[in-house]
Amino acid sequence: MSKSKITVIGAGNVGATTAQRIVEKEIGDVVLVDIVEDMPQGKCLDMAEAASVYGYDTKITGTNAYDETADSDIVVITSGLPRKPGMSRDDLLKVNADIVKSVTENVAVKSPNCILIIVSNPLDAMTYIAHKVSGFPKERVLGMAGVLDASRLATFISMELNVSIENINAFVLGGHGDSMVPSKRYTTVAGIPVSELIPKDRLEEIIQRTRDGGAEIVKLLKTGSAFYAPSASAVDMVESILKDKKKILPCATLCEGEYGIDGLFVGVPVKIGSRGAEKIIEINLDSEESSALKKSADEVKELCDKIDKML
Ligand code: LAC
Repeated sequence: MSKSKITVIGAGNVGATTAQRIVEKEIGDVVLVDIVEDMPQGKCLDMAEAASVYGYDTKITGTNAYDETADSDIVVITSGLPRKPGMSRDDLLKVNADIVKSVTENVAVKSPNCILIIVSNPLDAMTYIAHKVSGFPKERVLGMAGVLDASRLATFISMELNVSIENINAFVLGGHGDSMVPSKRYTTVAGIPVSELIPKDRLEEIIQRTRDGGAEIVKLLKTGSAFYAPSASAVDMVESILKDKKKILPCATLCEGEYGIDGLFVGVPVKIGSRGAEKIIEINLDSEESSALKKSADEVKELCDKIDKML
């Protein structure tokens, strides 16, 4: 059986850690691309030199060009500038829009059959660009955010209750921004609704911390944004695709009427398998959740309208 090929664009913290997690899991060979000369080559040689200790046989290639990315099964796009303290994800819109557009054009020519996973911010808008520029069917363009946001929520609940993280199934909808919609009703601890275990006010604080989760890390790091949890989340999606696991994960996906959203990439639960986003799972929302999701989708739409004028 030939090995899968995964390209990661951007060899910064998120990209390089994504590459590292993939090679260590041996789920495919990796090509790591960056415009900075010698840097991806250096990081990949360093990772290759760890193979003997870890015992992985995956190949890892660093490059500054796109030729070596040809015929990738999956391309993870992490390129773009990270947020600086005090900056919103949306402040990044223009600069990252140009970067993601040019990267997507290059990638789509070399790997016309790949599945794209977008990690660059502002996430939902960048996924919209990648879909538009690549011309790929919607199944093959996904944004990584909900897995990260849900993972943060799960972490905070696990810390609060002092229970295993494996017991927690956190559920988050909406855009990857301040208006994301963590759901109290669908978040469970060993199958028990979280609202039975954590008092309402405290749960609200935990949900707010989840919304601010990215900014909390930016504030602590001072020179960049989160990368351990974002890379783990992207790799969860990569693995579900390559192993055709059909995990239901919250991902930015093109909604065409689902949840009352049309023509936008917004975080919703999706079945992720070898064809990419195989099926959006629609669930009943109460009126509070519906209006929060609508507000979040409206914010994504504002950015996409700006993008339509830019491209
Ligand atoms: C975060 C950034 C990467 O949520 O969006 O950490």
